[in-house]
Amino acid sequence: MAKTKSPKKGRSIYLDPSTDSKLVEIANENGVSIGNVVKELLDEKQSKESHDDSVLPTILVFSNFKGGVSKTTSVKEIGYNLSVEGFKVLLIDLDGQSNLSSSFQVYDPRNMSGYISDVILADGNGNRKELADVIAHTEWENLDLVPANLAFAAADNKIRSQEGGAIDRRLLYAIQDLLKEASYDYILIDCPPTADSVVQNAILTLQTGNSRSMIIVPVNSDVQAIEGMNRTLELVDTISQDNRLAKPKVMVLWTQADERTNLFRDLFAEFREDYPKLPVFNTIITSSSKVGEARGALEPLSKYARNAKPTQRYQLLTQEILTLR
Ligand SMILES: Nc1ncnc2c1ncn2[C@@H]1O[C@H](COP(=O)(O)OP(=O)(O)OP(=O)(O)O)[C@@H](O)[C@H]1O
Ligand SMILES: [Mg+2]
Repeated sequence: MAKTKSPKKGRSIYLDPSTDSKLVEIANENGVSIGNVVKELLDEKQSKESHDDSVLPTILVFSNFKGGVSKTTSVKEIGYNLSVEGFKVLLIDLDGQSNLSSSFQVYDPRNMSGYISDVILADGNGNRKELADVIAHTEWENLDLVPANLAFAAADNKIRSQEGGAIDRRLLYAIQDLLKEASYDYILIDCPPTADSVVQNAILTLQTGNSRSMIIVPVNSDVQAIEGMNRTLELVDTISQDNRLAKPKVMVLWTQADERTNLFRDLFAEFREDYPKLPVFNTIITSSSKVGEARGALEPLSKYARNAKPTQRYQLLTQEILTLR
């Protein structure tokens, strides 16, 4: 058996005799050494792999068991900012309260062609729609939305009570089917404040995203937000173990911060001390009444209050996300 040094330091490959004679043939035909042929093949394989990774979308799942920590606001603002940067973005609302969906003018229950519930839950005949059938184009260029409605409230019970397997992979399969026909650079998923099969569905979609995909856990200064974060992190661990998957990337995002107060500074310092290994975004989202006003006006912050502090912070955060590798 021939052993040939690969071009990557420290790695070597073993060739069986049939491959070996084929390589000699190619090398002779092209007047190059076998080593060169192997290098070419490896380079080609590597470039294919990196190309494949780059054609996959970056999937960002926003989850915290605690409610009211800015999951929905962050999906809307980061999603809009990414679309302004020219990326094709899909937002998926997994919360039956439909706060994300109703942040867009396009959301009109009389006009929607369907909802996330039609994709995840089967109808009376056991049929489900495809994601492509329920995607709405928002009023903003490059920004699409899979809306939710009340039919998806308490969806965990409904998912579990229906027949059919893979109850935690329905969204993963639906996204994989969608990506056969459509391409998105970013898919942002807004989770409800739960740690159930709905969130499991969201976390398992990371398998079909590129290596920059991750779970973003927003936290605010409410102590329960840290408890909620821990609950979410436990769920991520359980899912990874149960499915024998590598642990996905997780990053914490501080939101609704009043940076001038000692309370915030103390809490933040304490948090960094308690969780030294947990990556946190450098950008902190400040608190401002403009956030709620912009939602009421059905506009992203960048349109509604261009110079407000949280607007600038969400823009900085978007740049930070774009530079992460
Ligand atoms: N940076 C901010 N400054 C001030 N208010 C904010 C900020 N971010 C969000 N809010 C407000 O806090 C409330 C909760 O925000 P949001 O709906 O984004 O949280 P959520 O985590 O999605 O909540 P839920 O778990 O209920 O879905 C909303 O009224 C929103 O307008
Ligand atoms: Mg929400």
